[in-house]
Amino acid sequence: MSDTQSILERGKQVLIQNYARLPLVMDRGEGVWLWDTDGKRYLDLFAGFGGAILGHCHPALIDAATKQAQRLWHVGNTFYTEPQIEFAERLNKTAFKGQAFFCHGGADANEAACKLARLRGSDKHRWKIISLNQSFHGRTLAMIAATGNPKVREGFAPDVPGFVQVEPGSFDALAAAVDEQTAGVIMEPIQGEGGINVYPDGFAARVRKLCDERGLTLIFDEVWTGCGRTGRWFGHQYFIDAGKVIEPDIMTLGKAVGGGLPVGVMFAKPEVAKLFGPGKHGSTLGGNPICMAVARTIFDIVERERLVEHAAQLGEHAIARLGNEPKIRSKVKEIRGRGLMLGIELTIEPQKLIEAGLSRGILINLTAKKVIRLAPPINITKQQWDQGLDAVIETIAALEGQSSS
Ligand SMILES: Cc1ncc(COP(=O)(O)O)c(C=O)c1O
Repeated sequence: MSDTQSILERGKQVLIQNYARLPLVMDRGEGVWLWDTDGKRYLDLFAGFGGAILGHCHPALIDAATKQAQRLWHVGNTFYTEPQIEFAERLNKTAFKGQAFFCHGGADANEAACKLARLRGSDKHRWKIISLNQSFHGRTLAMIAATGNPKVREGFAPDVPGFVQVEPGSFDALAAAVDEQTAGVIMEPIQGEGGINVYPDGFAARVRKLCDERGLTLIFDEVWTGCGRTGRWFGHQYFIDAGKVIEPDIMTLGKAVGGGLPVGVMFAKPEVAKLFGPGKHGSTLGGNPICMAVARTIFDIVERERLVEHAAQLGEHAIARLGNEPKIRSKVKEIRGRGLMLGIELTIEPQKLIEAGLSRGILINLTAKKVIRLAPPINITKQQWDQGLDAVIETIAALEGQSSS
């Protein structure tokens, strides 16, 4: 038995099989490249669900983690530690004036945000949160109730009460769902798991206005869209009304914010954040100094190397290239997304798409049955990106699958 085979066998014995894993063992990474245990190299166009935003083993991130690891690992939030403050200052510089709570991932951050929204509404007995169909907010009991996909709730009844879903992009449906008990609205600036879905122009501005009028807390789940991926620092910075960015009351971050380390952030406007007084919420390891030093360094690098603009340019380039490619025209229904968070909706439901990509040396992903997701590290070079797009085009051109509307 090869090493790879024996690792796979061992994995099946001792790991819960809750992921549909491919029979591959990833061994090593450098920049946009990954190597498996058989020594095969792949161009990573998915960055581990967007988490490895600066690719693999970035030397500056290794340096930041190592320096912090040699200084202080963990003391708990009984004390202040400077890496948390430095990172929260970066968020103030790139998002809006706010205060941060740190945890370990996206679901964790959204839990905190929904708790805070309920707390804010508690004096008026407001506890319901409206979310959108096709949304994804995480896998905890409350976040599967928030998620706009009934499949994630199957077998886990009864649902945590207080979450209501409406059609994405339909302001009228959302407004009609608001009642006396509504505390807030949670939405992704671009739906990631749902198929890279963007909303009609003006939708977010109308939701913001409604929230202001009715005293509701608006939460933007930026777990996929944060940290420069979309060609803005945060996806909501595409929502502009009368020349001003539409800001949420609370923004949540995960995935890319730790560059692959487990970091979640709930970042709230000070007037909302102040409601979380001592004892209202917590996380023992949240804001761990090593994770914070890495998160801060990611923001430094993205700013210094102008990677937000870079992501925007590479995204536009890809949309133009893929849209003009005759080889794939009959198989592509729509190409959408922003920056380096792109979805290619196919006219067919492809079989074994990921395997087909791997055989061409690229790592891609499929969601919502027929949407190929591309989300490479945002420091991918133009040349590497073009190399990846060549392989994506070849992979789509060779696809066979069931036709669906
Ligand atoms: C928009 C969004 N929110 C929340 C989550 C949950 O994040 P995590 O898996 O870190 O809990 C995800 C995960 O895919 C996501 O895409």
